Amino acid sequence: LFARPWEFVTSVARYDQLVPPAGVEVAFAGRSNVGKSSLINAVTGRNGLARTSNTPGRTQLLNFFSTADFGGAEPITIVDMPGYGYAEAPKKTVDAWTNLIFDYLRGRPNLRRVFVLVDARHGLKGNDLAALKALDTAAVTYQIVLTKADKVKPPALEKLVSQTIEAIGRRPAAFPQIIATSSEKGTGLDEVRATIAEIGGF
Ligand code: GTP
Ligand code: MG
Repeated sequence: LFARPWEFVTSVARYDQLVPPAGVEVAFAGRSNVGKSSLINAVTGRNGLARTSNTPGRTQLLNFFSTADFGGAEPITIVDMPGYGYAEAPKKTVDAWTNLIFDYLRGRPNLRRVFVLVDARHGLKGNDLAALKALDTAAVTYQIVLTKADKVKPPALEKLVSQTIEAIGRRPAAFPQIIATSSEKGTGLDEVRATIAEIGGF
């Protein structure tokens, strides 16, 4: 699946612009600057596919990526989402993003899993818990992916993994496995790829 070329499909600013569901979708969600776009580039092996930035609030639309050739199988689409919890942007903008994100997460019938990215240095924050709660309520399966694992020492990473497993243990829509990644060092990318391929039935 990831040997095939991944391409940009479309950007969506409003819920009513969404393309009709086809095949399966997986979405990358998480706080601003957590590394969503970087991880999409790393797993698809296409630098610059999703735009990344040092400045939080880079991704402002729902961006859809897919492979050009599905080999006869149902298409798999990866969705890059705007980050939540970015307080610097005007309130109207933040509200519009938040509404778009939550409308999409609640209303997308072919959304099979949301990867909730969490910075390996910081762990789950209040707005992450609010997102998990919304996903639990919408019964959308989600999986925690730790990012920027290169920034923490192995014992601290291990500790955060076990803390996170404990934190999601009783949450109804949580997928129990945690994946630790570094887009910079390539850690965990094969695990993310294998997970997406499995979701798509490859
Ligand atoms: P928004 O679109 O603004 O919500 O951000 P995002 O979650 O898409 O983050 P993005 O991928 O743009 O990355 C944010 C910053 O984190 C950039 O400066 C990246 O270079 C950096 N970054 C992303 N992944 C890693 C990683 O694995 N390790 C390190 N050290 N830095 C990373
Ligand atoms: Mg982004």
